[in-house]
Amino acid sequence: MTNAANPVKAVVTGGAGFIGSHLADRLVELGYQVTVLDDLSTGRVENIAHPEGHPRFRFVQGSILDKDLLKSLFEGVTYVFRQAAIPSLPRSFAVTAMSLAGAHSNGET
Ligand SMILES: NC(=O)c1ccc[n+]([C@@H]2O[C@H](COP(=O)([O-])OP(=O)(O)OC[C@H]3O[C@@H](n4cnc5c(N)ncnc54)[C@H](O)[C@@H]3O)[C@@H](O)[C@H]2O)c1
Repeated sequence: MTNAANPVKAVVTGGAGFIGSHLADRLVELGYQVTVLDDLSTGRVENIAHPEGHPRFRFVQGSILDKDLLKSLFEGVTYVFRQAAIPSLPRSFAVTAMSLAGAHSNGET
């Protein structure tokens, strides 16, 4: 349970998307301190127009692939709801192939 004086912190990745934005809305209503992380690749700022401006809500534009950003956002956080995704299969295959090609050319495994 969360309380007004010391709200429980939650991060919703992909929170500007369809499911994540509804989830973020509900978490704010329930009293959580909510951070939405979304790169807006397919998500839309209109999806978070409702909680935007609420004292227990903040939006951070960025990627779940940014490890340093994740580390800072997860500080003191109790729950992480992972909704960031590329739901389109053809697009997800293309992005994965590009990432692997990039990692390979950088000498990463
Ligand atoms: N919508 C459905 O009916 C449904 C049903 C079953 C399962 N799901 C699953 O739920 C999850 C969310 O679905 P959705 O419909 O909300 O999709 P969506 O495309 O509306 O939301 C995904 C969000 O992730 C963000 N995103 C993508 N890559 C990112 C990255 N690297 N860093 C940060 N944010 C990133 C996008 O900008 C977008 O806002 C997916 O895994 C999907 O497969 C959805």
